[in-house]
Amino acid sequence: MSAYLHGYIPEEQQRLMDQAGVLGSLIYPRVDFSGCKKLLEVGSGVGAQTEVLLRLFPELEITCVDYSQSQLDRARQNLAFAGDRVKFVCQDARILQLEENYDSVFICWALEHIPEASQVLVAIKPYLLPETKLWFTEVFNASFYFHPPLPGLTKYYKNYNDLQVSLGGNPDIGANLGNLLNSAGYNQIELFRGGFHLDQRNPGDLHKITQYWKELMKSAATGLIEAALISAEDVSAMENDLDAIAQDEDAVFFYHFVQASATV
Ligand SMILES: C[S@@+](CC[C@H](N)C(=O)[O-])C[C@H]1O[C@@H](n2cnc3c(N)ncnc32)[C@H](O)[C@@H]1O
Repeated sequence: MSAYLHGYIPEEQQRLMDQAGVLGSLIYPRVDFSGCKKLLEVGSGVGAQTEVLLRLFPELEITCVDYSQSQLDRARQNLAFAGDRVKFVCQDARILQLEENYDSVFICWALEHIPEASQVLVAIKPYLLPETKLWFTEVFNASFYFHPPLPGLTKYYKNYNDLQVSLGGNPDIGANLGNLLNSAGYNQIELFRGGFHLDQRNPGDLHKITQYWKELMKSAATGLIEAALISAEDVSAMENDLDAIAQDEDAVFFYHFVQASATV
């Protein structure tokens, strides 16, 4: 198993659950699995998105695939309410050996971490039924803009993205979803942008998302410090800058992720 930007400590596992709550209203309005019965979720982590999907689509049975057994163990606890509607498979998503076929696929914040992510799109194909509905949600970190310009956050964000690249991931993979799906032979590919464009019109949302961003950034702090890319002081500087943005009368906080839908 290769190194993973966010790590697997319990605090990070809880952050994924909190993240699904904070960003849910941005991710799910378009996602449509109506009429689907069996969904394959790749890179399902601790089941944070699985929980939302199970509640939104009561007809769905979901197979969660992750290559971390500790994520799947936590997912099993988080999804206990769903009983046998959920199954867990511990595999590398690039070399899948599955026992069933699926009419729907959901992948969120996972391809960004997987070296040669195109292999995942090829690996799932043999298990997809005709007219399978696929939904992807992935980062496009180059879209991040904030005002005022602050050096602590700028430095931290650059190193955060550099670390992800050095681990074989792609912090801008959202922008490539169209090409990746096209090359893998998928059809009816549509791309959508989601995210936030916050300022002092709504200080409550600005505060909420800058606090969320702090936790997202901090999830890589151990790896960044171990890689000698930043110091503990740089973590504090990043946090202070995010607090300063939330207070600034001319604050702007802008970020777009990319969603894609496709069929086989
Ligand atoms: C940021 S988490 C996202 C989890 C979940 N999709 C969510 O939105 O809460 C990414 C997950 O992808 C998993 N992952 C990374 N590389 C993988 C691979 N090659 N095969 C399967 N899972 C992988 C990690 O273990 C981690 O649980």
